Amino acid sequence: MFTRRGVHTDNIMFEHLKALPQDPILGLLQLFRNDPRASKIDLGVGVYKDAQGHTPVMNAVKLAEQRLLEQEKTKSYIGPAGTEGFGRAMAGLLLGDDCPLIDSGRLTIAQTPGGCGALRMAAEFLKLCNTDATVWVSNPTWGNHIPLLGGAGLNIKQYSYYSKATHGVDFDAMMTDLQGAQAGDIVLLHGCCHNPSGADLNIEQWQAISNLLVDKGLLPFVDIAYQGLGRGLDNDAAGLRLLAEQVPELIIAASCSKNFGLYRERTGALMLLSATEEQARAGASQLFSAIRGHYSMPPSHGAAIVETILTDTTLRANWQAELDQMTQRILSLRDQFVAEMDNQGMDFSFIAEQQGMFSFMGISPEQVLTLREQHGIYMLDSSRVNIAGLSIENIPAVAQALKTVLR
Ligand code: LMR
Repeated sequence: MFTRRGVHTDNIMFEHLKALPQDPILGLLQLFRNDPRASKIDLGVGVYKDAQGHTPVMNAVKLAEQRLLEQEKTKSYIGPAGTEGFGRAMAGLLLGDDCPLIDSGRLTIAQTPGGCGALRMAAEFLKLCNTDATVWVSNPTWGNHIPLLGGAGLNIKQYSYYSKATHGVDFDAMMTDLQGAQAGDIVLLHGCCHNPSGADLNIEQWQAISNLLVDKGLLPFVDIAYQGLGRGLDNDAAGLRLLAEQVPELIIAASCSKNFGLYRERTGALMLLSATEEQARAGASQLFSAIRGHYSMPPSHGAAIVETILTDTTLRANWQAELDQMTQRILSLRDQFVAEMDNQGMDFSFIAEQQGMFSFMGISPEQVLTLREQHGIYMLDSSRVNIAGLSIENIPAVAQALKTVLR
């Protein structure tokens, strides 16, 4: 059969495809943008917002960009691993500048298109290590973890993590579930600022997990997308650094989206810590070949900004001061929200105990829908809110609306 314009339609390929539901986070962003109400409040997608509700370009980023504009000499290819300078700077940020692992020959670093690129290439790498690999993710976890890791063909299992009753980590249940993992399984851990719950492990718990990983022969895989937005750059990496010292092998996926505000520049890093230098060389060749087969090489601009900032004392101090301000703002919003809920006669004190950009409100999907439709307040169906979307101006309205739906 031919259409009017002469296109053969008997064997067309795409007709069997069914439309998928929208991604829950990106779909909510679209719904928010389409909402004409001036009073609407966006507590959905995880981007930092200032008191005016803007997501500004960080000052140090602007300065680094100006410098790059003047000094960059070429736009030629950078290769699958990205630049050595970026890799080294990121290794210092994550593991500590004086960490001996950085020059040990055991660390492989790839500059990646965002934290998502790091997660996906880690999954592709794990498939090369073991075609039947199983990765354990926290329940709950970030909505894109399972598509990114499962999409590469990894088997996914979940371990208990968050207790709705205590609003904290259910550590006993987590350890019990991980006791059921098999040697060679992979355990995905959130480095800090757990997304979506904001409930983080303390350092004693990281130590207990490290012991369990070593005892059972499990591979830790740390996703760290919010370093600096919880309790400071070093504190937020403390669990990761503890593991790096104690385990033979480790995978790290890091994002520069939030702490450098580089969301759309897609800037991240993947690090593999191998047990020996020889294994690191083989692992690196496999990883870089897999990258070449997927997107060939990463984008450069965001990573060049990060490298410029981290390797210049003044720019680095400027960036860190602004990041600290962002973190302080989130902490103070947590306190203000708790105080306002208290005024309304509701105990939400757990919000002040949690870290980073996210927390659950602990309400049902129906109540979330009522908030959205009747009050123009947007949060994920799970009731995850982006705390940075709150402000002195909108906290009373959010508290009042919550009181209404909880009545
Ligand atoms: C989020 O969790 O909202 C962010 O990490 C944005 C995203 O891509 O999902």
